[in-house]
Amino acid sequence: MMSFSESVTLLLLVVVSISATLNGYESIDYATAVNLTADYCYARSYEEVSSIVKECKYIVLVDFEVPAGKTLELDLQKNAVLLFEGTIKFAVAHWDGPFIHITGKNIQVIGGTNHLIHGQGELYWDGHGGSGGVTKPQRVFSVNVQGGTFKNINIKNCPMFCVSIIGNDLTFSGFNIDNNDGFKNGLGRNTDGMGFSHSNNIVIENSKIVNQDDCVNVICSSNAVIRNVHCWGSHGLTISSGLSTSDRNNDVQNITYEDCSIGGSLGGIHFKTHPAGGHGTVDQVTYRNIEIKDVTRHGIEIQQDYPNNDGHPSNNIKISNLNLINVTGTVKGKTTRGVRISCGSGSCTNWNWSGVKITGAHKKDDCNFHPNGYSC
Ligand SMILES: *[C@@H]1O[C@H](CO)[C@@H](O)[C@H](O)[C@H]1NC(C)=O
Ligand SMILES: *[C@@H]1O[C@H](CO)[C@@H](O)[C@H](O)[C@H]1NC(C)=O
Ligand SMILES: *[C@@H]1O[C@H](CO)[C@@H](O)[C@H](O)[C@H]1NC(C)=O
Ligand SMILES: *[C@@H]1O[C@H](CO)[C@@H](O)[C@H](O)[C@H]1NC(C)=O
Repeated sequence: MMSFSESVTLLLLVVVSISATLNGYESIDYATAVNLTADYCYARSYEEVSSIVKECKYIVLVDFEVPAGKTLELDLQKNAVLLFEGTIKFAVAHWDGPFIHITGKNIQVIGGTNHLIHGQGELYWDGHGGSGGVTKPQRVFSVNVQGGTFKNINIKNCPMFCVSIIGNDLTFSGFNIDNNDGFKNGLGRNTDGMGFSHSNNIVIENSKIVNQDDCVNVICSSNAVIRNVHCWGSHGLTISSGLSTSDRNNDVQNITYEDCSIGGSLGGIHFKTHPAGGHGTVDQVTYRNIEIKDVTRHGIEIQQDYPNNDGHPSNNIKISNLNLINVTGTVKGKTTRGVRISCGSGSCTNWNWSGVKITGAHKKDDCNFHPNGYSC
């Protein structure tokens, strides 16, 4: 055991190092975090959470069920450290959710080795996702945070979206999102893995996502890196734009996916821009070292006719400087294509692709725009 003065010293050191480097502090791991201070407040039931969150900066949530129709609201203090232990479950209710909503500034959220955030999606899934059937809580883990790290979080069986993020200066690493059960009879749908919008300076890394919709989706955001993320099932490593009728809410700028893999999925790399939305620009997106395996529709699809897929692309969104470097893999099945590019008139410019090779397609590539370095 540490003496009291030793733990105070350690706490001071950690607090000093956190506040000394507000813009990009070193994140700590769970073992370090639990040793941080003896002053953790333990919430072992939902009822205790709101007062603990108000009073404590160091919080452990341990093994409880959140009552039906309630959000676990975690409006954390500045520089708070929040740990998850045991299983946190959410009693079934047919409402919009979210299950967990985290807000704060310069926070650290860390999962213990065997913790689990269990969405009990298996009790909602009916093959309809968000467009029919029973009402499903739309998000399991909803984040609206300025500055923070989220580390080693395990999430299972999301009724619909798993992690949805709004914020700045955030790092998510070691996420393990497991919707494997959703493949049973094709019941799990719209179980998007991780998505962020209206965000700047985001890192998602070292994570594994098994699901039945977009693996990672980037909407109206800038300066982000998604690296070493491995997806199974899923619909794609996605960029979306045109969801908003307001022009400035459609811009995507400087996003890099690198060292990622995606397999057993409907799509691999997927850009979807909505003709019905306002104007916008998607600029400086790079995919580097991406492995695509056994995709059943398009290995790479850049489409400006989403969601209708009707071959009538629109040019409301400009896509410039789209770089693909070392993107390889396979597609399989009778309706597959390696690459489909469907750009609106004049809306695609200056795309440089190198080392792009998708094999196994039954149909030829279908491109109305030709990137430099790839013959389509
Ligand atoms: C945490 O504290 C325990 C017990 O004092 C000690 O055995 C362990 O090494 C410490 N771990 C870290 C990462 O500081
Ligand atoms: C792009 O975003 C990355 C990650 O945030 C950042 O390091 C880099 O400086 C940005 N590049 C430009 C040109 O802004
Ligand atoms: C290309 O990407 C693959 C992963 O798909 C990686 O293993 C390989 O090292 C990369 N090649 C280069 C030259 O970076
Ligand atoms: C794409 O390649 C062209 C010619 O090779 C070059 O001029 C341009 O700067 C490159 N664009 C990017 C975004 O790398």
